[in-house]
Amino acid sequence: MKFEARAGNLNEVKCDAVIVNLFSGTDKLAGAAAAIDRNLGRLISGLIKSGEIKGRLLDLHVIHTLGKLPARLVVVAGLGKKEEFNLDKVRDAMAESVRALKKHNCKVAATVIQSGGTGRLLPVDCAQAITEGSLLGAYQYNKHKKKEEDERDIELLLLIEQDMSMLNHLKEGIEKGRIIAGAVILARDMVNEPANHMTPAHMAKIAEEIAAANGIKVTVLERGQMEKEKMGALLGVAQGTSQPPKFIVLDYRGDTSNKDTLGFVGKGLTFDSGGISLKSQEFMSDMKGDMSGGAAVIAAIGAVARLKLKINITAIIPATENLPGGRALKPGDVLKASNGKTIEVVNTDAEGRLILADALSYAVRQGISPLIDLATLTGACHVALGDAYAGVFTNNQALVDKVVKAGNECGENLWQLPLPDEYKELNKSDIADIKNSGGRYGGAITAALFLQEFVSDTPWVHMDIAGPFMTEKTRGSLVKGATGFGVRTLVKLASDLSRKKGGNK
Ligand code: BES
Ligand code: MN
Ligand code: ZN
Repeated sequence: MKFEARAGNLNEVKCDAVIVNLFSGTDKLAGAAAAIDRNLGRLISGLIKSGEIKGRLLDLHVIHTLGKLPARLVVVAGLGKKEEFNLDKVRDAMAESVRALKKHNCKVAATVIQSGGTGRLLPVDCAQAITEGSLLGAYQYNKHKKKEEDERDIELLLLIEQDMSMLNHLKEGIEKGRIIAGAVILARDMVNEPANHMTPAHMAKIAEEIAAANGIKVTVLERGQMEKEKMGALLGVAQGTSQPPKFIVLDYRGDTSNKDTLGFVGKGLTFDSGGISLKSQEFMSDMKGDMSGGAAVIAAIGAVARLKLKINITAIIPATENLPGGRALKPGDVLKASNGKTIEVVNTDAEGRLILADALSYAVRQGISPLIDLATLTGACHVALGDAYAGVFTNNQALVDKVVKAGNECGENLWQLPLPDEYKELNKSDIADIKNSGGRYGGAITAALFLQEFVSDTPWVHMDIAGPFMTEKTRGSLVKGATGFGVRTLVKLASDLSRKKGGNK
């Protein structure tokens, strides 16, 4: 799908379909929608009056123009209540519209930005949200299917604007939207890819391609180097599979005059069977997606580089499978992580925190600060918050506030959970420094407390994305399957923390 900002009037554009928006509870059409309504002999306002079109969020009406407009179709997309209007609604309404237009065999569509009344939303942000919503809503993972005859895509979406002086803002928004949606789609593709394809080696290959294309330095540590680094926890998990583990490090230097480096750490478990503590069938099926955190940080650092943000970022992805087998880790085994701490493995299915222990320790040794880790870490977090929220944990309130704010502003929901000292005893082991499971209650919290043992006093935020990494249903800009959750928050955070070009913050 291509995007173009063009001067003109929406009701005069020659294309397959024009998209107009409607808030609920209004019967007065304004601007482009009013002009189109006049062309159609007030058909739209009539349908609103009769109650057929309500403008509820995600409602869509496709109207055939029968030659009364240059466009063949008009889509009226509901935006919900005006008071609740924000960029999320723009993304979701566009995503629904684009999916409907695909079914109606549209190649070229046009719309206008909706800023929700003067000054509510910036035109650049609206254009970005329209672009993101269109690309994310149209997303399909069909790599392994034979091409279907009627599989159509919108080729061109026009953003029509009467005010010529606005076009540059729209172009800037389109460009940002394309980069960010492209990164989310990369993460979705990686997560949807079956585990027999998305091996640790394949993850490393993708990281290398992203690095080469965007001027990022990449280093992949092999098993021998992990041994030298004494990454006993990661190696312990990796010993049950014949797939070689990879420790992927991506380095983006966007601000060479600055020594500080922001760290992204992502869990890259390419398939989690649970190991000897084998999962039941019900819980195993989505576990090809247990590398979602890793996929998000690879995609995010790529987008940060494409946006040329003035910041330094290192992304670290420990990648392995967790399988049972003759060499596999056993419950009761004791491992030593690279920071010297010993871990009693009471449950081989609590493997995410083991591989992250070595990744976080490595980041601390490199002096990377602050650290943000993303992981599909605990079923408990999914149970606690459902699939619309990721849990966040921190040893630094100011940092988590920035992360939560970044999430809110880009449409990813984050909810802070506590990290209380009094639960630390749940992770105490009789025979080692710590054990890898604190039991059932507060499972997301004890997992986070475990990770905290490996960040020393580096400011750190842990994001447990076990809830939102996948979705069961297609709705708005989410499409059934992988969501690419986390990418947008990381890119927004990097942008917020970056130095603005040509000077200070
Ligand atoms: N990858 C899983 C967590 C998970 C569950 C992610 C569901 C996404 C959806 C993780 O490795 C795991 O198995 N965690 C265990 C921890 C327990 C054994 C302490 C869990 O949550 O059951
Ligand atoms: Mn597990
Ligand atoms: Zn896992």
